[in-house]
Amino acid sequence: MGLIGIDLGTTFCAVAALDDRGRPVSVPNRDGDILTPSAVYLAGDGSAVVGQPALDLALEEPERVATLVKRRMGLPDYGRPVAGREFRPETLSAVILKKLAQDAAAHLGPVTGCVITVPAYFDDTRRKATMDAGRIAGLNVLDIIDEPSAAALAYSVGAGGAAAPAPQTVLVYDLGGGTFDVTLVKLGKKRFQVLGIEGDVRLGGRDWDDRIAAHAAERFAKEFGTDPRTDPQSDAALQASAERAKRSLSKVEQVSVTVSHDGRRLTVPITRAEFETMTRDLLVRTRLTAQHLLASTGLTWDQVDKVLMVGGSTHMPATRKMLADLTGREPDHSLAVSEVVARGAAVHAGIRSAADPGNAEPPPGDLGDIVEISVNAHSLGVQVRQGDEQLNHKLVPKNTQLPAAAEQVYYTAADDQTRVRVRILQGEANQAEACIPVGECWIEGLPPDLPKGSPVKVRCGVGSNGRIEVTATDLTSGRAATAAILRPGGLTDQELAREAAWVRNMRVQ
Ligand SMILES: Nc1ncnc2c1ncn2[C@@H]1O[C@H](COP(=O)(O)OP(=O)(O)OP(=O)(O)O)[C@@H](O)[C@H]1O
Ligand SMILES: [Mg+2]
Repeated sequence: MGLIGIDLGTTFCAVAALDDRGRPVSVPNRDGDILTPSAVYLAGDGSAVVGQPALDLALEEPERVATLVKRRMGLPDYGRPVAGREFRPETLSAVILKKLAQDAAAHLGPVTGCVITVPAYFDDTRRKATMDAGRIAGLNVLDIIDEPSAAALAYSVGAGGAAAPAPQTVLVYDLGGGTFDVTLVKLGKKRFQVLGIEGDVRLGGRDWDDRIAAHAAERFAKEFGTDPRTDPQSDAALQASAERAKRSLSKVEQVSVTVSHDGRRLTVPITRAEFETMTRDLLVRTRLTAQHLLASTGLTWDQVDKVLMVGGSTHMPATRKMLADLTGREPDHSLAVSEVVARGAAVHAGIRSAADPGNAEPPPGDLGDIVEISVNAHSLGVQVRQGDEQLNHKLVPKNTQLPAAAEQVYYTAADDQTRVRVRILQGEANQAEACIPVGECWIEGLPPDLPKGSPVKVRCGVGSNGRIEVTATDLTSGRAATAAILRPGGLTDQELAREAAWVRNMRVQ
């Protein structure tokens, strides 16, 4: 079948496929590892190295290595040159995806389609960028799916869910390397329904590392009068040892971080209690987000049957303690927290391909009759002017069941107007300025002789994968008008083809 699920993480990626009974299984990379670090090294000869070797090379040549690319998704560039060149985050991600698919193909044979995961809290711009990364990598992207939903889906087809006698309400707490999401899901026997989503796209394990790194760097600076973070090489080494120290603190009560810079060394001891104190505010942020989600769905903690922990950062004992205290029940850590998202993506790939009428081959197992229902993580609105103010007029409120659509009628402002501009927004704020501009939608091809004040109906839709579409009708003639969203930072088809050609010709190992 050649279907794979890809968890394109901020710090680690994982790949899964379906076995012949439709059950998801992790697919190791060429080195036999289930997780591949999300790091790209660009060599002088135009080839690339992805994964652990790229991270190792970062200690020597940090300027040739890109990490944490996902944090830049949806932005026009990576933020600094890599190997002397500016890159789009989509292109760097595509290099990672190419390596993942290439290694998977070595195990499974040709990859015919994939599903890539995104944080539930990603807006349309970031979702489009992720799909584009897949296309640049030359992959057939069947769909994208929210990471916590994928985790719950994998759980539901696994022992926990399918065996459950009655529908269960499950809270998925997903704290990864760079993003945090919390999702409430209702799992039935053949039905999978997301009730609500909250999250923070800039909160993850990396922030915990930074606290340790800052603590050690400050101690070093106090001792020697120079800060290791000012030198890229010392900083890369410090980040790596801070991350190792954090992992060790999940198991032992005390560790030490060694800082080397400017020919000097300092060993800084840190206890787990100190670490938990210096990162308490980060954990509180996740707690407030979970509480907020529960309140917004109108449920109480008694009505939540299960708490699933997903993402590598849930290895930290403090997350488990906090969740137990918050929810009044011991969280489930039976899941392989770092693999379950990719496995869910593989299940979703099976469901999608089963639903495709053009697909002659039935999916393995009985994935065909699972019903998936999702919601939108951000309200969808249009910009309207009221007096001097630009406001966000919400059309599809946050946490609406998907797919959803809403209509709005606009009136032409002048005689013979052939096009109308509508600005599409995502976000909860009333002020348009405080929202995320998805793009401008131009309604074009209106007949040339329309009088001023002619009505044009605009329909904004959110697809089941969170992607936004717009259609428009000229109400005078009843004819459809062209409506295309122009995404300001996004890649055009032409640019996409150019980047794809570049990645296609690149040797990636
Ligand atoms: N034993 C551990 N103790 C503490 N943190 C850990 C441990 N193991 C992994 N981590 C952290 O988990 C994070 C990686 O988790 P994961 O692989 O789920 O994230 P990701 O998928 O890369 O990121 P995201 O989902 O945010 O895009 C890293 O910050 C890593 O340091
Ligand atoms: Mg992840």
